[in-house]
Amino acid sequence: MDAIVRGRCYTDGRPVQQCIGISDGKIAAVSGSLDGDIVYDFGSKLVIPGAVDIHVHMREPGATQKEDFASGSLAALHGGVTCLLDMPNTNPPTTTSKTLREKKELAASRSYADFGLFAGVQAGSDIEALSREGAVGVKLYMAGTTGDLAATSPESLKEELAAVAKTGKVLAVHAEDESLRGRGSESSLADHLKNRRNECETSAIRRLLELSAEGLRVHICHVSARESIPLIANARNVTSEVTPHHLLLDKDAMLGSFGKVNPPLRRREDRQALFAALKETRFDAIASDHAPHTTEEKEEDFDFAPSGMPGVETTLPLMIQLVRERHLTLEDVVRRTSRRPAEMFGLNKGRIAVGYDADLVIIDPATSREIRADDLHYRCAWTPYEGRLGVFPKAVFLRGEIMIEDGSLIGERSGRDVV
Ligand code: DOR
Ligand code: ZN
Ligand code: ZN
Repeated sequence: MDAIVRGRCYTDGRPVQQCIGISDGKIAAVSGSLDGDIVYDFGSKLVIPGAVDIHVHMREPGATQKEDFASGSLAALHGGVTCLLDMPNTNPPTTTSKTLREKKELAASRSYADFGLFAGVQAGSDIEALSREGAVGVKLYMAGTTGDLAATSPESLKEELAAVAKTGKVLAVHAEDESLRGRGSESSLADHLKNRRNECETSAIRRLLELSAEGLRVHICHVSARESIPLIANARNVTSEVTPHHLLLDKDAMLGSFGKVNPPLRRREDRQALFAALKETRFDAIASDHAPHTTEEKEEDFDFAPSGMPGVETTLPLMIQLVRERHLTLEDVVRRTSRRPAEMFGLNKGRIAVGYDADLVIIDPATSREIRADDLHYRCAWTPYEGRLGVFPKAVFLRGEIMIEDGSLIGERSGRDVV
């Protein structure tokens, strides 16, 4: 055994005081007592699987003033995320074999966390080739978004769904119906919501499910409207995710354009319905939709400010805080931050069990701290959660190597493509 990690390890749905034996970056044994060359003894602290954040925007290439693979993945590790799946709306967009290959090289040379890259669907994109080139999944925008990745046209949707079905990859969808979007000028979060009513989301989900091809695995990103929950609950071959911002923030948050995001922050009732659904075992993943924009960009007039907010470093700390406050169970969280997301994308991660990557997060559930933008590691120095409590990791291991301890980077950069 190269190393042993001792603590209250979260295996089989509950924490048990035991040892994890690590060999060649993988979990080689889980047992009451083990011997190894190096022993990390965390006493009665919790040991959970590293989080797999299946929805982040690392902005590289093309917008590195907002983020890049180094800054974003380092922030991820500090927040207990050991694997991140990056979205294709970069510049250039990740819609060809060439741009995917180049982004892979870039990420492999810069990422501190393991990563997978989504390919984007665009008119004429060769989905088969993108899949062969090693995309972790395919992303489809049903409405316009940040960057040059255009929304797909309603006419071509059916064909595109069939093409993705053939690859066997998960199709992650930004479900907003472009044709139902209001065009009124906006000066507040309430205005932004008026232009992107709940029906924008439910209509897009309905259309998607109607046109979905045989065998296609559809994943609905960032579910935000309460009426979407039953649509998804009854659908076959459909997974879904919820974000911390749609769970914790609503249109009445005093955030101005810093709270502008798509789909929008909605009403309190939506937020509460999402929360209730999460407790009823709906949603496969809690993902950040980390979509950083600079403070300068966000300070533009509301109408011009870009949509999106950062979150990769605060997702797990906020969720563990909710466990601490007994709003959620540890199982509610760990299942959606590691086990299910890893399963969905066929990753050898997300569980403390023999054979899985030794990606581990050590937490002291009794120690929260106030979230301060100054303490965070991603490039755009702001957070919509300023002043809220979060439980940050005490230590983070990536494939058996200790990367973060007490808020400092101590390991060597080694992020790898998971495909
Ligand atoms: O608010 C959003 N920001 N929604 C998206 O669909 C994209 C994202 C971004 O990349 O900024
Ligand atoms: Zn989206
Ligand atoms: Zn996104």
